[in-house]
Amino acid sequence: MNSFEFFNPTKLIFGKDQLTQLKTEVPKYGKKVLLVYGSGSIKRNGIYDNVITYLNEIGAEVFELSGVEPNPRISTVRKGVEICKTEGIEFLLAVGGGSVIDCTKAIAAGAKYDGDAWDIVIQKYIPTDALPLGTVLTLAATGSEMNAGSVITNWETKEKYGWGNPAVFPKFSILDPTHTFTVPKDQTIYGIVDMMSHVLEQYFHNVENTPLQDRMCESVLRTVIEAAPKLVDDLENYELRETILYAGTIALNGMLSMGYRGDWATHNIEHAVSAVYDIPHAGGLAIIFPNWMKHNLHVNPKRFKQLAVNVFDVNAEGKSDEEVALEGIEKLREFWTSIGAPTRLADYNIDDTNLELMAEKAAINGEFGNFNKLNKEDVYEILRASL
Ligand code: NZQ
Ligand code: ZN
Repeated sequence: MNSFEFFNPTKLIFGKDQLTQLKTEVPKYGKKVLLVYGSGSIKRNGIYDNVITYLNEIGAEVFELSGVEPNPRISTVRKGVEICKTEGIEFLLAVGGGSVIDCTKAIAAGAKYDGDAWDIVIQKYIPTDALPLGTVLTLAATGSEMNAGSVITNWETKEKYGWGNPAVFPKFSILDPTHTFTVPKDQTIYGIVDMMSHVLEQYFHNVENTPLQDRMCESVLRTVIEAAPKLVDDLENYELRETILYAGTIALNGMLSMGYRGDWATHNIEHAVSAVYDIPHAGGLAIIFPNWMKHNLHVNPKRFKQLAVNVFDVNAEGKSDEEVALEGIEKLREFWTSIGAPTRLADYNIDDTNLELMAEKAAINGEFGNFNKLNKEDVYEILRASL
């Protein structure tokens, strides 16, 4: 392992009927609240009404920013920053999925900065402070509810970047599995692929002696693989929603990667694809990840073999490491296809027109990836294999 420090200050409030805790948590931070949400799912499923009721009960003055897009835009962040500055907002409450939470984090940091919030996303300005924020998560996927990361898109320049800062850890996050009952089948599948991809990004690293971390990663993957097929056929099953919701948070709150840095190249490539084509983040991951694996198998076949055997139960007897590894990659692809995830860029009508552009965007800051360094040509190859 490498030396490490672990810091995660987010208070996780998990379980049925926990939304009432808004009444004890929000007043700790202020009365002027900016409620941030998406295109209306929280109004249709009743979460909005309950949130407003509790905020009214504590006498909060509530301002609203709605319409946060999936793949949230910097233009929406700017609107939120403007409201915070003109109205003297004291606390931000994100109610939604990763997009709403990521947008809220950028607003929180932007509100404490005199320049343009895009400077924060491109890391031209490193925030030292942010408005406090809390979240009510409605979709299991990104882990944004318990990490300090955020991903923002600039649609004008077709750029999508992740950034992070300890100042934007949510103060609290409320996770009630019933809040995810209305997540449609496709978004449920995307969430499953996203959380599995987060574990896989971390699993591929170059550090020796991580047996506990490996087993934790493998357990999360096995648990998701067991629950996911049942959940996609039974969307209002409390126990399955509960399992998947918890898995999504554990997958990316820092618990799995103490002592090493995961690869994260596939996420970087996907961000370049969805910056150009605005496809769902995890749809892109399901297509790209198996091809990233094949491209990098030569780096450490034993690592891929371990995944194949310990997660996908591949029988290794009489086979080379590479053969076992390839079987594992196929099983991952088959699993994602079996639950309804896309397999090729063509599934989103993406052809070879912009491969060069996407490869350039992914490698804009030079070589990247911690398991194996990729350059623009590598990305091009991986994308070409994904067509
Ligand atoms: O807009 P609303 O009405 O909220 O509807 C959303 C949206 O259409 C809907 N939805 C959410 N909860 C629902 C629901 N519909 C019915 N019932 C509910 N309970 O689902 C759609 C997708 O929501 P979104 O927030 O975009 O999904 P997700 O949570 O997958 O977030 C994706 C974004 O997160 C970024 C991605 O790049 C993408 O921009 N990521 C953020 C990360 C982080 N901060 O750590 C890491 C991830 O790897 C990822 O890159
Ligand atoms: Zn992701």
